[in-house]
Amino acid sequence: MWRRSLGSDPPLPAAVVARSEAFGYSCEVSGLIVALLLPGCTAEVAEVVSVEGDSAVPGLAEPSVLIPDAGENGPYACAAPLGTPLDGGFTQAVAADLDTLLLGQPDVPLRTHMVLGADAAHEMFFVWQTRAETLGGRAQLGFAEDGLSWTIPGVSYPVGGYRIHVARACGLTADRSWRYRVGSDNGWSEVGSFTTAPEAGVDLPVRFAVLGDTRNGAATFASLFADIEAAGVDYVAFTGDAVANGTNWAEWEQWFDAGGSSFLHVPFLFAPGNHEANDVYYFALFPSHTGVGHQAVDAGPIHWAVVNDNATAGVTVPSEAAWLAADLAQATAPWVVPAWHKPAVAACSPHGEDVNNRTYLLPVVDAAPSVRLVVNGHNHNYERSLPYRGGEVVDGGIVHLTSGGGGAPLYTGSYGYDYSALQVKTQHWVLLEADARSLTATAYDLAGNTVDSFTLTR
Ligand SMILES: [Fe+2]
Repeated sequence: MWRRSLGSDPPLPAAVVARSEAFGYSCEVSGLIVALLLPGCTAEVAEVVSVEGDSAVPGLAEPSVLIPDAGENGPYACAAPLGTPLDGGFTQAVAADLDTLLLGQPDVPLRTHMVLGADAAHEMFFVWQTRAETLGGRAQLGFAEDGLSWTIPGVSYPVGGYRIHVARACGLTADRSWRYRVGSDNGWSEVGSFTTAPEAGVDLPVRFAVLGDTRNGAATFASLFADIEAAGVDYVAFTGDAVANGTNWAEWEQWFDAGGSSFLHVPFLFAPGNHEANDVYYFALFPSHTGVGHQAVDAGPIHWAVVNDNATAGVTVPSEAAWLAADLAQATAPWVVPAWHKPAVAACSPHGEDVNNRTYLLPVVDAAPSVRLVVNGHNHNYERSLPYRGGEVVDGGIVHLTSGGGGAPLYTGSYGYDYSALQVKTQHWVLLEADARSLTATAYDLAGNTVDSFTLTR
């Protein structure tokens, strides 16, 4: 299923846009005189264009939600907190744009990406990076066939000499193609796109890409992600360990740069790995509604129960199991798919089975008959178990899928456990397609060859 619709760019809302090649950015300002005062715009103004647009005045506070021509079902900023331990450090983003502009800091957003909220049919996080001086930011979005009709104010957080901005949109219309951009009067991102998931109970398919453990393999990750975007997936479920050292901002930059503009078009579901280290960068870049990295996400026929299995930052392993049990008890989607980083059922050495997760999380999923598939990373290979439940290979058991071949050095050994159906030591990604009746997983290597494919039915 490929439901995304791109079309032509929407009209920009600024009054005057001056572009400069000298500093590698665009300066978007409210008048030509101001443009000529800005570094990089002084002698290199290559183009000045006037466009029709809104009359927002830089420096004046915007209303908390700007909804021109919005119907009763228009998007709005979520009332709930962002859901991150960093909430207390976020700065409400309102009227700092003009001050920054006059200081000569035109600032085009970098590393723009999206993160799924709890309800992929109606909610989306938009996340981007600016210089530290740009305090304000917002997302503008609209239906793909229309302009950017709605504005969602963001909040921002100072991280490593930069600033991470997050805007959280609720009230989106299900099963629609959307376009958006993020930024401020200091500069705007390229226009991105996404598709909201079908309404719960509506039997339409969704397509996820699953991969993880990219770490320092930027070239491999870039190649795999190009294939993922070309395949037209709706979303990416990342199994953790994006970087080797989550405390090193330079590695995050490399990871985002490897994804490039593709990240503008494919929202993420992100299960944090041990290498993310529960660091401030992870929590800033991948907000979750639970505040500790656990995420219960409904996306059409799939309910994802993502556990942050890194027992720090106030999260203990028993508390992970308790959260998972409570979530699985209320999940009603056709496919209930728990996901976490370190597998409880895997024969790949050296990591093999994670003792904590086998002790605490495995009994929880085994006790949930609705669970037929568990997704993990951490082991740098592709592995699929036979249907397994209660320590045995049984009909109706759970297939444990490991996808940890996103670019990190491959693991080549095996413990040879009988429950392991297939281990392939290759870099890969997995296409997960599901409707209400079937779920098919197909793994592809770097050359596009099929590594494995299996289908579950209900
Ligand atoms: Fe790991």
